[in-house]
Amino acid sequence: MSNNEEINSIDPNSISQQELHGYLLSAVAPRPICFASTIDKEGNVNLSPFSYFNLFSVNPPMMVFSPSRRGRDNTTKHTLENVLEVKETVINIVNFDMVEQMSLSSTEYGDGVNEFVKAGFTQVPSDKVQPPKVGEAPVAFECVVDQVIALGDGPGAGNLVLAKVVQIHVKKAFLDAEGKLDTPKLDLVARMGGNWYCRASGNALFEIPKPIRTLGIGVDMLPEAVQNSMVLTGNNLGRLGNLEQLPTKEEIAKIAEHPEVTSILNGEEDIIALHKLAQEWLAHDKPEDALALLHL
Ligand SMILES: Cc1cc2nc3c(=O)[nH]c(=O)nc-3n(C[C@H](O)[C@H](O)[C@H](O)COP(=O)(O)O)c2cc1C
Repeated sequence: MSNNEEINSIDPNSISQQELHGYLLSAVAPRPICFASTIDKEGNVNLSPFSYFNLFSVNPPMMVFSPSRRGRDNTTKHTLENVLEVKETVINIVNFDMVEQMSLSSTEYGDGVNEFVKAGFTQVPSDKVQPPKVGEAPVAFECVVDQVIALGDGPGAGNLVLAKVVQIHVKKAFLDAEGKLDTPKLDLVARMGGNWYCRASGNALFEIPKPIRTLGIGVDMLPEAVQNSMVLTGNNLGRLGNLEQLPTKEEIAKIAEHPEVTSILNGEEDIIALHKLAQEWLAHDKPEDALALLHL
């Protein structure tokens, strides 16, 4: 990273709420979408999407979403009023096939208007809670509201709804051969800043081996020329640093005999060519060979 990159440093109190909203929502993204169905004490159903949302605990299984006070007039949203009246909700997960109807359901319809009907979703009775679930959702979580925490009382203030999962519905079409939820099949969508959404499919999906049970050597253990390479990227260094051990002398000697390596070594010593070859091997999922090569 160069030290002379220009940066705007901003005190959040020095800009308008609209500008602050823009920075926060564009940068803290992509955000998963909680499509929450709730009811009021008369039993009127409400369905609204919330991207201030995430999973925060597995034991107990707890999700949190936040219906904010409206920026324009500081009023509260039906979803918030409903969960204070009837402490139950169904959190439906949104995939690409549902995204336009989900967006329509965020329209600020009047009191008692059922967004299932307005957006054309199928209302399916839940097993353990009163609000219905969305029939089209690949996964739905029936939840009991554990706590509601107001973060303020001014326009834009969030209200954390802590929702404990009591029943899970998973459509079998979204499972893999082992019965686990299949990420590519799910085709989930997420909210970004402005009107942007993001679709978790195709090239947007990639895997990184989890470093939870391993102890990577760390980028600081790589040769200095590798750390300061003009070719290798931060992602390349991260993958190399995730390996658990430095190459042995034997491994380095063996890699020196690799035909692609000998052709580089036989010419003038060309560190750029070596780093490019290591990068290619990393792209082909051969990080151990790349690390040995970088120790020549
Ligand atoms: C994808 C998406 C995400 C949204 N996320 C939030 C959010 O996290 N918090 C919020 O207060 N409003 C959010 N909104 C706006 C609400 O969905 C909208 O105000 C909704 O109509 C509230 O309905 P209600 O008054 O029936 O609860 C979001 C809208 C969309 C389309």
